[in-house]
Amino acid sequence: MTFVEWEPKYQLGVEQFDLHHQHLVGLLNELYDKYATHKDDDALLRDAVSNLTEYADYHFTLEESWMLQVEYPAYDEHVLQHKQFIFKIVEFNHLYRTEKEHLALEIIAFLRRWLLDHIVQADGKYGAFIRR
Ligand SMILES: [Fe+2]
Ligand SMILES: [Fe+2]
Repeated sequence: MTFVEWEPKYQLGVEQFDLHHQHLVGLLNELYDKYATHKDDDALLRDAVSNLTEYADYHFTLEESWMLQVEYPAYDEHVLQHKQFIFKIVEFNHLYRTEKEHLALEIIAFLRRWLLDHIVQADGKYGAFIRR
């Protein structure tokens, strides 16, 4: 079973960002898989964490500068949401090495919920904004 299944309803109609989102879902799936199967392989997990962080950062930066260009009104609150996601990955990165395994899993579950909600709601709003 795939941890996060990509569904057509996540599509915004902004091609570049739709592709980014699919890629992000793939990286979160990789992190989950590696955590589920190779929890003790530090190097492997570190790679998965940094792949997700770097790509999320890349995507958020492009989204944010695009929003400024199109003068998207909800820019500030959107940026705050992006920061929260990165913050949670950092938190995961601290936790998975400790004994607090259930917390690390909770964070992965949080990242999953955040990503899907954010794509549908917050990103969905700029999708609607640009289609007007
Ligand atoms: Fe996005
Ligand atoms: Fe976003």
